[in-house]
Amino acid sequence: MGVVILNFKIYEEGSGKNAMKLAKIAEDVASRVDDYIGIAPPSIDLAEIINAVSIDVYAQHVDAVEFGSHTGRITAEMLREKGAKGSLINHSERRLKLADIDFLVSKFRELSLTSVVCTNNIATTAAAAALNPDYVAVEPPELIGSGIPVSKAEPETVENSVRAAKDVNSKVKVLCGAGISTHEDYVTALDLGAEGVLLASGVVKAKDPKKALEELVGLR
Ligand code: G3P
Repeated sequence: MGVVILNFKIYEEGSGKNAMKLAKIAEDVASRVDDYIGIAPPSIDLAEIINAVSIDVYAQHVDAVEFGSHTGRITAEMLREKGAKGSLINHSERRLKLADIDFLVSKFRELSLTSVVCTNNIATTAAAAALNPDYVAVEPPELIGSGIPVSKAEPETVENSVRAAKDVNSKVKVLCGAGISTHEDYVTALDLGAEGVLLASGVVKAKDPKKALEELVGLR
């Protein structure tokens, strides 16, 4: 039993009407397991999905800015106002500067939003843990979308990331991601000390996303 955060990215299968369908699937599966299932739909679909499901909804990205003269940006306050649980921060497909990550983690604490800071290796996981986010999610970029699970291909990255993060900050929770799709990949991640997984294509791009998510959490 662990944490599963499903990033819809901006796959067509996870956008617009498909995002809503996927959100409902995740809500249904979450109601049948003890695992925590959160979702991260595209920003434009966030508000509608937050209002339609009872599970936690995260943004995929938030800008490190205050309200004001900025165009096309989203602040942490705007996310909170819509009822988001939190956001991914510094995803490998949306990297931020260190100072921006620090700004967002502190802002999230103030606003009681949950921060999930993504990292790419053991050293950056330890560095991110020092900023005191709720979660650090280590994802080797070369395995993202590959179907090759980090928990099997690089178990040492997961294990040592957990150790390095906890050495710096015993309260931080560590997730791992990249290539996760089966129950075995998930359980292996938990066995390596991770609190859970951050995943996308294994479910979002599956022929039958419901079946894929059920399989992931061991319902099949
Ligand atoms: O945010 C999750 C992600 O980057 C991993 O993607 O498709 O390898 O599960 P995927």
